[in-house]
Amino acid sequence: MTSLGSESIIGVLGAGAMGSGIAQVAAAAGHQVLVTDSSAEALELARARLTVALAREVGKGRLHDTAARGIEERITWAPGTAGEYGLFRHCALVIEAIVEDLGVKREAFRRLEAEVSEECVLASNTSSLSITALAAACQRPKRVLGMHFFNPAPLLPLVELIPGLRSAPGTASLARKLVEGWGKTVVLSSDTPGFIVNRVARPFYGEALRIYEEGVADKATIDWAMRELGGFRMGPFELMDLIGNDVNYAVTRSIFEGLHGDARYAPAVTQQRMVEAGLLGRKTGRGHYDYGEGTAQPEPLRDPLGGQAICERILALLINAAVDALFWRVASRDAIDLAMTKGVHYPKGLLRWADELGSGVVLERLEQLQRDYGEERYRPSPLLRRMVRAGERFYP
Ligand code: NAI
Repeated sequence: MTSLGSESIIGVLGAGAMGSGIAQVAAAAGHQVLVTDSSAEALELARARLTVALAREVGKGRLHDTAARGIEERITWAPGTAGEYGLFRHCALVIEAIVEDLGVKREAFRRLEAEVSEECVLASNTSSLSITALAAACQRPKRVLGMHFFNPAPLLPLVELIPGLRSAPGTASLARKLVEGWGKTVVLSSDTPGFIVNRVARPFYGEALRIYEEGVADKATIDWAMRELGGFRMGPFELMDLIGNDVNYAVTRSIFEGLHGDARYAPAVTQQRMVEAGLLGRKTGRGHYDYGEGTAQPEPLRDPLGGQAICERILALLINAAVDALFWRVASRDAIDLAMTKGVHYPKGLLRWADELGSGVVLERLEQLQRDYGEERYRPSPLLRRMVRAGERFYP
């Protein structure tokens, strides 16, 4: 296996939101970066956007002018070879960030492998597809792994590294060292649906949608409760509007299907209908909220008791998802807590939160919900039961 150092040339396939952000991160760390995309227009747009973004950083005094110029100079956007992968010939690592479609990605990996050196590491930024299935398109699956950045890649510190079933252990350690050198916080995840963050975060949206569907509270009140009482940066509905209901719904569906219909991850009909109606969120001007100019936003019902109940219910499900991820060895305790605080800015690691509240209290809340609804959705993780029985803490 090759070594990955600051002298390595990095390739990026796909110049969309993620690919261009990743290219910027690698160039800021001193690498020569080659980017291509099947659309010459997307490449040109990405180049122009980067120039504007860097100028803004320089203007705000957050980046030195020479550093900004260095980043721009080290990135080659290759419109002349749009969709051709030959330019990656001398790369030590190519990161794929194209459309989230298994067939398209597998074809891209097959074509990539025909162009790059034997030692080149191939990484995918996929949010939801099986790394093992992507790697199976390659002759040398041991060089393939998932490298999941968060949006925007230059700002968010977390990267999930996901070895596939046939990845060589050395591939992940090389990649970890390299990406940590870029100043990122790296966590290792098993190749399971949604990896760490997207899987564990599902109830934040899903249970909020349920509470709304049941008429327990309106969206503004649920958002208020999670922000003001839960300490989250954004409420679930404002966050869904920011992410895009289409994207959020697709991730939920893919995890639900990937886990073979586990009721804990079931998508909400409310969100499905919103996607069907084109109410995608900020990008379409309307989602859970109306973003039209001069439109007044709905006021929450600031009832501390009601708000607390909403918060406790969503938090119990979030903690259960984190505990279950630990139970199924998706990742280590520290990786799960780090991922949720660094990747999606949760106010605390969920396993640490479980200790603070007491696992027994969380278990009781889940059992009560399961009794009330009689649904699998609320079933407690076997590990939560075990911890309560043994009187153990996640952080002894
Ligand atoms: P995007 O739609 O902004 O960009 C995708 C780019 O890939 C487009 O410019 C398109 O022209 C290009 N493309 C499509 N097929 C191609 C092919 N066969 N060869 C070369 N280029 C091709 O998508 P975005 O948001 O940047 O996502 C890219 C990947 O990153 C997806 O796998 C997505 O799941 C993942 N991801 C997205 C995040 C997000 O918040 N947007 C966060 C983390 C991961």
